[in-house]
Amino acid sequence: MGVKTLLLLLVALEVRLAAGGQNGRSMPGSPTNISRDDRGLQQVVLATAYSFNNQSNDAFLFKPSTVHRAQRQVVKGVRYIVDLDVSRTICRKRDHNDHDLSKCDFQPEGRLQQTFRCHSDVWSIPWTHEMKILDFVCKSMKPAEDPGSDAST
Ligand SMILES: *[C@@H]1O[C@H](CO)[C@@H](O)[C@H](O)[C@H]1NC(C)=O
Ligand SMILES: *[C@@H]1O[C@H](CO)[C@@H](O)[C@H](O)[C@H]1NC(C)=O
Repeated sequence: MGVKTLLLLLVALEVRLAAGGQNGRSMPGSPTNISRDDRGLQQVVLATAYSFNNQSNDAFLFKPSTVHRAQRQVVKGVRYIVDLDVSRTICRKRDHNDHDLSKCDFQPEGRLQQTFRCHSDVWSIPWTHEMKILDFVCKSMKPAEDPGSDAST
């Protein structure tokens, strides 16, 4: 099988996966909600955390804590529109140059606990493994002011 055939197959597969969204009737070209388990989504969520850590001056690494909204749209590749929270971990940046988040737990409740709500708009071209960040903004959330949290002890 030639490389070109393989690429076409991958493209077809990706388009079919994307078009087969949750209700199965979605047309390619319009954003549709996707599952939190979507593999492409997980990469986008991680990439968002890496971007956040790269841009922040915080002494600690942050990692994704909650995904609030996740949508996917087929546009010459796949566009992901994600609203998510990133929260401070106990890993200091200077000890984790590789930004590996897998062993980093979240900060326990207290002074150092902090969460940012981020909006991430990423264009992924699966057949070249490229990811382009179209829009990325985060704003701080004070845990104590979050009306949704009822962390009674
Ligand atoms: C980190 O940020 C710098 C400058 O802000 C940028 O040049 C670099 O590409 C970024 N690295 C990643 C992995 O995003
Ligand atoms: C998509 O998800 C958002 C947030 O989870 C929800 O508010 C919205 O109703 C969903 N839309 C559809 C068409 O399911």
